[in-house]
Amino acid sequence: MKEFIIVNHISDLDIGAQELVMKAREALAHAYAPYSNFMVGSAALLDDGSVITGMNQENAAYPSGLCAERVALFSAYALYPHVKIIKIAVTAQKRGESELTPATCCGECRQVLLEFENRQKAPIEIIMQSQQHQWIKAPSALSLLPFGFTNDSL
Ligand code: THU
Repeated sequence: MKEFIIVNHISDLDIGAQELVMKAREALAHAYAPYSNFMVGSAALLDDGSVITGMNQENAAYPSGLCAERVALFSAYALYPHVKIIKIAVTAQKRGESELTPATCCGECRQVLLEFENRQKAPIEIIMQSQQHQWIKAPSALSLLPFGFTNDSL
């Protein structure tokens, strides 16, 4: 299995990963996060070179909102159902601050990423900022959710 890559600065990531992080950062500007003020942006790179972005979409009925990653993943599938997702980047910023703040994919997003990965039979690389402000490149959703629940169990 490929390994996790952890670097201390974004410039130490490969250029492709850095570009995707920048797209995710742009997307974050359109986050709808009036309740948490925690703005998240994500960008998914597809096998045909398209980049599909997403941002968190909150709701007055709190659980009805959706994370940035799942907005990007579901949009990608809606627009390009036959194109594989190669990688996804996640960025976050607290409202009123100018720097990015760490945000790693939540458990539900890992579960959805795993389903996408199994469906397309190819790993999805995940780029995100750790709580220690390092940048992590995870080789796959499976690496973030070992022993996860899949359709094999049904
Ligand atoms: N959120 C995301 O969009 N992605 C993550 O990886 C972590 C959390 C959103 C959900 C909610 O709108 C806000 O961040 C605070 O939890």
